[in-house]
Amino acid sequence: MNARRPLLVRLAETDRASVAFTLDGEPATALEGDTVLTAVLTQHDRLRRNEFSHAPRAGFCLMGACQDCWIATADGERLRACATFIAPGMALLSGEDA
Ligand code: FES
Repeated sequence: MNARRPLLVRLAETDRASVAFTLDGEPATALEGDTVLTAVLTQHDRLRRNEFSHAPRAGFCLMGACQDCWIATADGERLRACATFIAPGMALLSGEDA
């Protein structure tokens, strides 16, 4: 796996409770109230790779309209990352190895 460089840097609200999840099988933490999109982009420089071109994607509208932020979970579910809150134990897959 490539080294991760976050696309987003948290500047405020750092005192919220932490939430443990995994991203591509590696442990990660977000803060309570983060969307899945925020949780991933504070860990990584992309949300996922496009299924066809394999180009990196990081969402577009951030308000549930564009459908660009789908992300897979380890149990086969697909989530709209900008409209889903991170939850403890979520196992997210960015498609890094696609
Ligand atoms: S970023 Fe557009 S629907 Fe999530």
